[in-house]
Amino acid sequence: MAISDILKICYLLGSLSFIVGLKMLSRPDSAKKGNLFAALGMTIAIAGTILFHQNVNHDTGEVSRIGNLPFIFGAIAIGTVVGYMAAMRVKMTAMPQMVSLFNGMGGACAALIGLVEMNTHHPVEFGERLIIFLGVMIGTVSFAGSMIAYGKLEGKIKDYGSKLQQISNNTIVFAILGFIVFLSMSGSWSDGLIWAIFGASMVYGILFVLPIGGADMPVVISLLNSFTGIAAAFGGFMYDNQVMLTGGILVGSAGTILTILMCKAMNRSLWNVISGAFSASGPSGKSTEGMSISEISVTDTAIMCAYAQRVVIVPGYGLAVAQAQHTCHEFEKALEAKGVEVNFAIHPVAGRMPGHMNVLLAEADVPYDKLKEMEDINPQLPNTDVLIVIGANDVVNPAAETDPSSPIYGMPIIKANTAKNVIVMKRSMAKGYAGIENELFYDRKTRMLFGDAKATLEKLIAELKNA
Ligand code: TAP
Repeated sequence: MAISDILKICYLLGSLSFIVGLKMLSRPDSAKKGNLFAALGMTIAIAGTILFHQNVNHDTGEVSRIGNLPFIFGAIAIGTVVGYMAAMRVKMTAMPQMVSLFNGMGGACAALIGLVEMNTHHPVEFGERLIIFLGVMIGTVSFAGSMIAYGKLEGKIKDYGSKLQQISNNTIVFAILGFIVFLSMSGSWSDGLIWAIFGASMVYGILFVLPIGGADMPVVISLLNSFTGIAAAFGGFMYDNQVMLTGGILVGSAGTILTILMCKAMNRSLWNVISGAFSASGPSGKSTEGMSISEISVTDTAIMCAYAQRVVIVPGYGLAVAQAQHTCHEFEKALEAKGVEVNFAIHPVAGRMPGHMNVLLAEADVPYDKLKEMEDINPQLPNTDVLIVIGANDVVNPAAETDPSSPIYGMPIIKANTAKNVIVMKRSMAKGYAGIENELFYDRKTRMLFGDAKATLEKLIAELKNA
């Protein structure tokens, strides 16, 4: 078998593993294996390229293999150590920052490929030039945007935007695209041109993300992720490399679908997100002035739950902040020991990243069949004796259904207020991500149980054991 055939087989195996791995990611019980499977495919693709790729000199017909192996393996070793350490140390709540950094690196790689190719080969064909220029542009935007997104999520960069900036952003992006088409058609070359595209794209990447509200970053990161995929796919076209093309297309399309799904679950348009219309200074919805809340003690909560037949837990961002997933599972087991049926109601955008609650509860070994999707659990809530909201707020806010002036109006919610009794566990009356009041807390069926989610759950477990 020729060396080039071995390389093709490596690429085929790599591409297949990406597709199968991605499919496995769609189920919590196979997601971990899917991730490892796709990583194995990537390893085969990288090792295959290093060992079996052949360069053919079109003038002399001479065939050469990849050189600089010590540099390549040195870089892989450094990258592996840094990536492993960062992934082991990262907290679940800091995952979006990490994804943002990794995504930015992908964008930078795609841009570098274009810069190097253009500088060394000076291609003249329209299609080839267009792909390279677009790869540089999209990769650079993804890199710069991801870095700004990282800074915002870390609280190091503030939101900054104005109507004027939106106009200037649009002007810059159309100017770059026009310039790219013109350059691709002209076929002429000077070193400064590619750097001009690179510089303008860098400025656009920064200005594009700057106005977007910090908490909207998961949507933007997903969008930037799809940009990186597209830029990588352009690289695949350029090198006629099937595995790079497949990987890029998968990342690009998965990122686009995820972006659309997140916007849909928040009942927002993508334009509304990227124009920064939902930053911290946005609308605050209906006032709850003059309304009063009822509190409940840990002991009374434990008694109420112990005598219930059906309990539904609604986890939210606060559960992740408190890192209370394991304690929550213990609480569920303590209730089940008392003969109570317990289920979890999962809202698609609870938390701060896609699948946040699924990942969190899977980490604590909560059985998957107990995680009920919003559409499935909502009809069962009127038959639920006690619904316990743990660190969730917006995803149970009835204003989404009743108040057309609310910024979350139209967002599908977990209809907590239809349960027989509601207990809300949070630390204070502070608002959630949307920055709006929540009338559920003032409902006559609702009791507030104030405190950190983890500490309160620990006390509840102790009470249940004594009850
Ligand atoms: P939020 O509405 O953000 O509310 C979280 C609540 O948790 C807060 O009100 C906070 O109240 C409480 N909390 C924080 N730390 C706590 C702790 N240690 N112990 C107990 N409670 C704690 O969360 P949600 O209901 O999960 O909704 C998610 C929001 O994020 C939605 O508006 C969604 O649109 C948005 N969003 C989600 C995503 C994805 S993909 N998931 C992406 C972008 C935006 P206290 O401070 O009073 O404790």
